[in-house]
This record gives sequence, structure tokens and C-alpha cells, in this order.
Amino acid sequence: MRHLLDFSGWTRARVDELFQTARAMQGVLARPIKQVPALKGRTVATVFFEPSTRTRISFELAAKRLGADVVSFSGATSSLKKGESIKDTLQTLAAYGVDAFVIRSAAAGVPHQATRWVEASVINAGDGRRAHPTQALLDAFTLQEAIGPLKGKKIAIVGDILHSRVARSNAELLGLLGAEVWLVGPPPLLPRRGGFFGARVTAELKEALKGADAVMALRIQKERVSGGRLPSEEDYRARYQITEARLALAKPDAPLLHPGPMNRDVELEGALADGPRSLVLRQVENGQAVRMAVLYHLLLGRAA
Ligand code: CP
Repeated sequence: MRHLLDFSGWTRARVDELFQTARAMQGVLARPIKQVPALKGRTVATVFFEPSTRTRISFELAAKRLGADVVSFSGATSSLKKGESIKDTLQTLAAYGVDAFVIRSAAAGVPHQATRWVEASVINAGDGRRAHPTQALLDAFTLQEAIGPLKGKKIAIVGDILHSRVARSNAELLGLLGAEVWLVGPPPLLPRRGGFFGARVTAELKEALKGADAVMALRIQKERVSGGRLPSEEDYRARYQITEARLALAKPDAPLLHPGPMNRDVELEGALADGPRSLVLRQVENGQAVRMAVLYHLLLGRAA
């Protein structure tokens, strides 16, 4: 595994191996001094052309916890503003000796293109509405911690499915792990032709939540919606917000996830986000260990 762009070519065995390394990384993060020298002398560049809090910070911390040097590039304050191209930007950074690029872009396919422009490893930190593989990895890891092996488990993903790279990557990865994935949202925010990676697609919230082993709420991607497809927040809340009463349709104690950022009291009731069934902050915490594992596997070519 040289790059992480999506899950094409992945097997369950590879996911298991990566999660084993992530559990070892949880051990590192539980120590008083949360650092090992595994990647000492290596350089990781985070290159974000779109805003981020969780992905960027957790990748930068993950690299530092492994002893790597970190270069943090932000499109908004760079020579991109003077007209430099993305290709020239990445090749300029590569000339400093970067070993891994962590790239987020509004346009789909930029991380794939980058693999042709630079020799270093490339990690997709979210490209348009196409893929966000490390988010799906940390979601699956967190789900396994909470409800055990995912084979045969019903996972309901609720919200703006059409514009969500998280929905796509989760459908791909959770499907690979044998889960039964349901994608549910307002009809204008559902994929028009079929679903993703064999997931079931419905506009019927009750059908998707009934007997679910876990529920994941997604943000409406206002920045990616075009052509007046956006339902009003009021309408969305009335029909699709995850409330205590709606969550009662799922299995007792079924956990609630949200990849963030969250619009409080829109996708889910604020009290649920802070409640005992919420794994929202556990997802954030696990993001660091999972991203440490990804960097370790890509840069050292083996499991911990
Ligand atoms: N979930 C996620 O990708 O969050 P950020 O946009 O804050 O990185």
C-alpha cells in the first residue's frame, strides 16, 4: 500500500491489519509521553485546499506522535493566490523532501492526480463528494469497538447522501466488512441512479432506522448543493432529524455517530449528541490512532 485514495483493491484482511496497528497506536496515546520515533526523519505535508478541523489536526498530531516533521500548507495563504497551479505547488513541496502528502480538495480526483506528479505517498483527506477514506476507517474502527464485528450489522446513515464523500466511503468500507448499509435522506439529497457500493437507498427514515445496530447522521453539505435542491432546515428537522423518539426505532443502546462538523439541533438533537449513546468524540479520538496507523503502514510498509 503506497497511497490511500479509496478502498479499491482493499480486502478485509488489510482492514484488520490496519486496525491492529491502530490499537497499538491507542497504546502509544495512552502513555504519559505520547510519542515514538517510528517516523523520525520523515516529513509529512498536510495540503488543504478546503477547510478542516478534525482531519487536518489529527493527521498533524498523528505524524508528530510518530516522530515525523510536519509541513502545514493552506491554500488560502499560499502562492496559489498568485496563480500558481496545484501541480507546481505539490512539486515545490516535494522538492523539500516530503515523504507523504495528505491532500484535501474541493474537486474530486486531485489526490489521484497528485500520485502522477510526486514520488511521495498520497493520502486522500477528502476530495469533493468522491471519497474520504480515513474518515470511513475511523468510523468503522469506532463502530467495531462499540458493537463488535460488523458482518451482518445494520448501519443506517442519515442525511445528505448525494453530496457526502463520507457516505460513499462508509458504504464502500462497511460493505467490505459485511455490514448491511442503509442510506436515507430527503429524495433530492439521494443519489439519482442506484446507490453506492451495494448499499440500500431509501427516503423512508423509519424503514432505515428500524432495528439498526448503529445510526450515523451526516451534515447537509450546503457548499456542494446546487440548483435549489436544499430542503429548509425546518423541513429537514421535521422529517429527518435524529430525535430520541426516532432513535428508539433502532436497537436498544444502538450508538449514534456523526463525522462532524455538526449543525447542532439540525441533523440530530443536541442532547443526543452529548448523551451516553453518542460516539462523536470517540470518533475524533480514534481518528488520531487510525491516522497514525495509516501513516505507519504507508511509510514503513508494514504493520506495527
Ligand atoms: N469529518 C471531517 O472531515 O471533519 P473536518 O472537515 O473538520 O476535517
